[in-house]
Amino acid sequence: MTSSSSSSLVHKLEDYKPSPWLTPKVNLRFDLDLHLTVVRAEYDVILQAETIEPLFLYGESLEFLSLRMDGAILDPNEYQVTDSGILISHPPKKEFQLTVENRICPAKNTSLEGLYKSGSMLCTQNEPEGFRKIVYSIDRPDNMMRFRVTIAGEKSLFPVMLSNGNFVGENQMGDSKREVIWEDPFPKPSYLFALVAGELIETKDSFQTKSGREITLKIFVEKGNEEKVGFAFDSLKKAMKWDEDTFGLEYDLDLFMIVAVEDFNMGAMENKGLNLFNAKLVLADKKSATDESFESILAVIAHEYFHNWTGNRVTLRNWFNLTLKEGLTVFRDQWFTEDMTDPAVKRIKDVLFLKEFQFPEDQGPMSHPILPKSYREMNNFYTVTVYEKGAEVIRLISEIIGRESFKKGLKHYLSKYDGKGVTFEEFISSMEEVVGKSIPYLRNWYHRSGTPLLSVKESYEKETNEWIFEIVDTGSSEYPLVYSNSFAVFDLDGNLIIENKRIMAGERDQIRISALDPNGTKPIISLFRSLSSPVRLDDHQSEEEIKILAKVETDGVARFFAFQNLIFDWFRKSLGSGKEEDFSAIIETIADSFTRNWEKTYLSFYLSFPGLTQISENLNCYQFSKIQKLRVWAIQTIATTFTKNFQILLEENRKTIPVQTKEEIGKRKLKNIALYYLLYDPSRKFEKLAVMEQREAKHMSEEVSAMRFLVEIESSEKENSVNSFFEKWKKDNLVLDVWFAAQVSSGEDRAKIAEKLEKHPQFNIRNPNKVRSLYFSLARNPLSFHKEDGSGYSFIAERIRLLNEINPQMAASLTKLFSPVSKQEGDLPKIAKKELKKIEVLPNLSKELGEVLGTILSSL
Ligand code: ARG
Ligand code: ZN
Repeated sequence: MTSSSSSSLVHKLEDYKPSPWLTPKVNLRFDLDLHLTVVRAEYDVILQAETIEPLFLYGESLEFLSLRMDGAILDPNEYQVTDSGILISHPPKKEFQLTVENRICPAKNTSLEGLYKSGSMLCTQNEPEGFRKIVYSIDRPDNMMRFRVTIAGEKSLFPVMLSNGNFVGENQMGDSKREVIWEDPFPKPSYLFALVAGELIETKDSFQTKSGREITLKIFVEKGNEEKVGFAFDSLKKAMKWDEDTFGLEYDLDLFMIVAVEDFNMGAMENKGLNLFNAKLVLADKKSATDESFESILAVIAHEYFHNWTGNRVTLRNWFNLTLKEGLTVFRDQWFTEDMTDPAVKRIKDVLFLKEFQFPEDQGPMSHPILPKSYREMNNFYTVTVYEKGAEVIRLISEIIGRESFKKGLKHYLSKYDGKGVTFEEFISSMEEVVGKSIPYLRNWYHRSGTPLLSVKESYEKETNEWIFEIVDTGSSEYPLVYSNSFAVFDLDGNLIIENKRIMAGERDQIRISALDPNGTKPIISLFRSLSSPVRLDDHQSEEEIKILAKVETDGVARFFAFQNLIFDWFRKSLGSGKEEDFSAIIETIADSFTRNWEKTYLSFYLSFPGLTQISENLNCYQFSKIQKLRVWAIQTIATTFTKNFQILLEENRKTIPVQTKEEIGKRKLKNIALYYLLYDPSRKFEKLAVMEQREAKHMSEEVSAMRFLVEIESSEKENSVNSFFEKWKKDNLVLDVWFAAQVSSGEDRAKIAEKLEKHPQFNIRNPNKVRSLYFSLARNPLSFHKEDGSGYSFIAERIRLLNEINPQMAASLTKLFSPVSKQEGDLPKIAKKELKKIEVLPNLSKELGEVLGTILSSL
């Protein structure tokens, strides 16, 4: 990401210096009040640098009260208080105690960073730099502190008061007040500090570790949600067990707590011993949660739990290295879900996600290496690149050295650097140490941005009767890379003849394969199966070859993507010629898939027709209405060709039991796919099936799909469907998020609907989940967002202006969705530019938004 704005605010990796001062111990005291909370911090301060340097305590939006050194009020001439913190220019000695006091107003904090109010509780979000909005501090990850926290508050308002670590005691303060004390034995950076206080319901479970310790597990929720925690507890226990079984990692405190928060900017946060979660990633029951939300809960609970080792026990030296904990922990949660569900299906989902979201980010204005070289606002770098591409690079390491060595390497890394803040270098060298050799070019993955594009040239060599597949990295020679290439070779009847793996170090590699017969017949090669490295391949294969792979590839993931390629190929040809090209290869492949005995969920993925964004990104073509016309034609053709098959599929899977087993999830998915195609039948005679499905649904996955489909096809039942869904669910906030989203996610002209919906009494622009459901869903619907008249752009731009005042993080992430506008046709880039320029001149433009706007505008 580049930024056009003032360079003095830019943090650069090359400028990184360790903190000159450290505060290894802190006593924090909170006197809670919704409007005026007083915070006091007593730090042990020590000099780490060789000579005495100025001491800076970060602080933002704080009301300064007092500063003491070794107990005595500090002379105001000795320090300066500014908008960004306190500077003590000439600290007198190398060790002292510093006590600072300030006030904050949680109720007015709508940025949802620092200490803020959500529903009936006060809670915190500090990663990456929210702690400085709570109290003046050396708020950087290379400053590790041991925390002792005292929280005082009214008993009626704050019957529950939590912080990290262990509960060590409480005191009554008169009739109405109480104080509690928490102590965390593990030193941690400020970003892992958490506090929660409010009227919360405690639910409880327990887990016995492999060494026999009993861990108390608690989930705190707002009243009324206490029945929705069962699945989260099960997920947590599975994750705890898996980390023990896979890496030998045990939990290290006696208590593990999760709090479900309604207003949360992100998914969840791994604060030591006290994870905070977006409520939608904790709460679920079969009536109100879809299969997708169950799976997200499993994955995110595991993700945050896994951070306890990868992130907390071994933490980051600086924010540039965010991917060290995030890429690694995403890889760990992906591996966990592969083990808990179906590995091929999980890999398909992850690769689809990467291609739909990360590849475009890396080809657009926001492109940055997984180790960003500079940032103005770190919040903007919690990206799919740092997370998902970062995870692919870790996966690549595991492909190169093997999963068993990877396990050893991780254990080695964690024991060697326990309690420290490190960089990706310590991680990689740990991996190299266990295999006893270095991995060439691996580090360049941390420095090079963009998805590598590999070209494949095929040639025949007569003398040896061999086919040569030459793979060449078409990109940066400054940063050559290492790749793991899992490949297979098939004959023309689809028999597997070779299965192998090659490590390609540097710019090119050559694979030589004997011809299939003395006449030199070319074998079919399948490269980078299961995306064994995060690359794009140019199109080197004929339709015939892809078609064979789509049927016979023994690797289910590669087979799936071969079929996708067959579909993309058809779009490419049809867009080129301006008419629907020969569709028979696709029809034959689908016909073949019905004869296979594939697992239900796998088949449902295989049959899911790619979405508009996926197709357009894949073809690098942004003529959405043209693509959409072809897409509808294709779906209708499949629907009418296979009506019988889909009816049978629907019938066979109609009776489902609302439980989260592979079999039942598979049934629900398959019948939904069948229903989807049937609804596209031009006769429209199957719409009543969807109405019935919605009415008789026993599981939210059934209910919500029916509504989504009816909206998408502009059914005459659409209105009824949307209204009855609302009537049934109007009391469940999380379900309403789905309801808002469903109405704007597909179809044209949804900005008008969004404009109506944002006036709905249950919409709330201060709640990030609502903002995501309505505004983000609309901006991800290309037909409405990139509409030729610019109405999508001006609608979203207007909302960004509002959000800038309320919640800069949400404003900035919504703005990122303007990234693809430079590729749009006609006047669209110009319109977007005009809209974004209007935002740029806002008097209170936030740092978050300013950085993203600058980057996108420079691409227009
Ligand atoms: N560390 C959290 C996680 O587990 C996410 C924190 C995101 N923070 C942010 N400012 N976006 O992924
Ligand atoms: Zn994470």
